[in-house]
Amino acid sequence: MRRMVAETSLAPRHLVLPMFVAEGLSEPRAIASMPGVVQHSRSSLRRAAAEAVEAGVGGVMLFGIPTSRDAQGSGGLDPEGILNVAIADVVAEVGDGTVVMSDLCLDEFTDHGHCGVLADDGTVDNDATVERYAAMALAQAGAGVHVVGPSGMMDGQVGAIRQALDAGGHPEVAVLAYSAKYASAFYGPFREAVSSTLQGDRRAYQQDPANGREAVREATLDLAEGADLVMVKPALGYLDVLSEVAALSDVPVAAYSVSGEYAMIEAAAAAGYLDREAAVLEALTSIRRAGADIVLTYWATEAAGWLTR
Ligand code: PBG
Repeated sequence: MRRMVAETSLAPRHLVLPMFVAEGLSEPRAIASMPGVVQHSRSSLRRAAAEAVEAGVGGVMLFGIPTSRDAQGSGGLDPEGILNVAIADVVAEVGDGTVVMSDLCLDEFTDHGHCGVLADDGTVDNDATVERYAAMALAQAGAGVHVVGPSGMMDGQVGAIRQALDAGGHPEVAVLAYSAKYASAFYGPFREAVSSTLQGDRRAYQQDPANGREAVREATLDLAEGADLVMVKPALGYLDVLSEVAALSDVPVAAYSVSGEYAMIEAAAAAGYLDREAAVLEALTSIRRAGADIVLTYWATEAAGWLTR
């Protein structure tokens, strides 16, 4: 009876696996704060992407870690940069077997670790950054990506990227807008995952956890600029925001269950304080119940396996 009347479903197609690929690795490298998650080599990335597809996930989201960084984040725009070659690798491996998405942000590629380029006074220069994002979108589209995910929270980024893709002959590439992205302590383990060099924080461009109305405004702007999907991030602490965005959005809504959410459950389960599988499925189901069509989660492949056995 419970199964028959359950309001919310969770299936592999709802899950998107974020994956890290590091330049110059010959073997995957463990991420201590995220047990079970690794920085991939190019070849282990291909294998793991194929495994995710086999498990039935809806998509994968790629993050690249370069060996060298500069103030402009040039590696992100270089067609030979790690993220762009990895996109091509994964597309070659899985083709249209899943939706291949890429992080569109400069923070992995800048030596200062910020999501954009800096003005002379050290603040992030919004408009100069948006120009870089437009060029980065073209590099990613050229590599064959299906969906770009601008995550830098610059004003006007979605419209500029949409325009660049259309003008550059890539009208079919979709934009997953990180619309409501909070300046969150729950991104902590991600810093290790991407070997981040960031000093300070991102409070000048990411949202204040105290604000809900601002998320509605950000999502509304992104929809007007042509977003194909909108996202709320993190997920678990922001289910109210997710619910509000889902109510207003006329495109599919994603939520990103971030590194800190993963690390908390993994640590508690490792200590024997939680039933790992039950806790993971409850968390993912709750994110769906709050309104997410799609959930980005580091458990995607494993959870897809649980859901289909
Ligand atoms: C920025 C980006 C971040 C995450 C995804 N994209 C870090 C940040 O904004 O500080 C965090 C993901 C996670 O914590 O799992 N490109």
